[in-house]
Amino acid sequence: MYSLVANHFYLLTSNLKNCLMKKPFIDYYNKYNIIPTSQNVKNVKSFLYQRNHLYSNLGIPLSFFSNKNIIEFGPGGGWNAQATSFFRPRSYTFVDGSEKSIYELRKKIKNKKINAKVIKLIKRNIFNFKTKKKYDIAIVEGTIPNQKYPNKMLKIISKCVKNGGVLITTTHSPFSLLSEVCRRLLRIKIYNSNISFENRLKTSCKIFKSHLATLKTTTRPVKDWVSDVILHDHSFENKYDFDTLDTLKCLEKNFYFYNSHPKFLIDDTWHKHIKNQNHTNKIYKKQHILNSLFLIDYRLEFKNFRLKKNTLKKIKNMEKLSRKLIIIHNKIIKDNNYKQISEFLKNLEKLNNLLPNEFKQTKKSIKNYIVDLPKYIKNNKGKLFIDFKVWWGRGMQYSSYVKKLKI
Ligand SMILES: C[S@@+](CC[C@H](N)C(=O)[O-])C[C@H]1O[C@@H](n2cnc3c(N)ncnc32)[C@H](O)[C@@H]1O
Repeated sequence: MYSLVANHFYLLTSNLKNCLMKKPFIDYYNKYNIIPTSQNVKNVKSFLYQRNHLYSNLGIPLSFFSNKNIIEFGPGGGWNAQATSFFRPRSYTFVDGSEKSIYELRKKIKNKKINAKVIKLIKRNIFNFKTKKKYDIAIVEGTIPNQKYPNKMLKIISKCVKNGGVLITTTHSPFSLLSEVCRRLLRIKIYNSNISFENRLKTSCKIFKSHLATLKTTTRPVKDWVSDVILHDHSFENKYDFDTLDTLKCLEKNFYFYNSHPKFLIDDTWHKHIKNQNHTNKIYKKQHILNSLFLIDYRLEFKNFRLKKNTLKKIKNMEKLSRKLIIIHNKIIKDNNYKQISEFLKNLEKLNNLLPNEFKQTKKSIKNYIVDLPKYIKNNKGKLFIDFKVWWGRGMQYSSYVKKLKI
């Protein structure tokens, strides 16, 4: 009897704990009534060319969406859906949990910016989403990494894909996040010297405007990038880095690796030698580590040059260091002070020393950050971060997976 009561009590408190736990993205967006993922679509042609290029690399040019049943999870305000619905799918279903997303999507549907024979808008937490319907294509962009339970979310989404259908998702690797992690550490000072969200936003925009300008694109407003990347309160337990290998491991039982952007896979196997549906999963796993380091800096040519055995070992060590840096970053953000900053910089320097000489530009940027961050913390008013500003990782990787045929 006692154990029954204790068990009941445990279930009750753990349910209560789950209810009180912050919902990644949704709680932050709802708190400030924002959806900071808008896209500049004034130049419709170039927006469509860009999205068509991306989706073609994923194996589905935009015209392939025509007459298909599409489901998109976490569509934000539906900016990207303007491209994926351009060739009039048979149906387009949106699932999102934030108020502002739903508001923006409703507006776009009313203004005929979304083009599908049937449009369905579902305001729901993805973790509570269930359907018997199977879709040709399921899309989830910018939503899986940073969840507390990314595997669980991905599994729920994967269940909606029909036999032979495609799932498109995005990932963050430890290397690709590194420049972002360094930038996020600037926020401690911004937080402690500005109390309101509006003032923090203003100060951050001033600081990061010149960083973003080095990217020479104007697709996303500075304000949105800052709100989403710098001021976003990721909880300590969120899985900030969730890379393509994590995604593949989660999906591999029922899916095979299809394509990605940037391109990772080189497959020169003659198709007549293929015996089962696990072929690309196997070769992806082999090639992953070779490609991973190139995500650290978008300025470097992404090439599959043959790496020496000891370089591979070095990359593994650097990846470990990157993960360690993310953890120290999480602690610094959680404590909202710079007590552990020297530990962060010490490990960053270690990583920098391991970077091969081909990464000269990255090394220069990291060195500059290591020298200038302490000056920034001490309120030095001089010109800071000149070489660091231009360093950006290939922050988000896109990949697609085909649901294995059940024949
Ligand atoms: C970073 S935004 C990405 C928006 C858009 N896909 C893009 O790439 O520009 C994440 C989106 O996922 C939604 N989202 C995150 N977690 C969710 C959840 N558990 N349930 C429903 N929606 C969620 C947010 O409301 C938001 O619209």
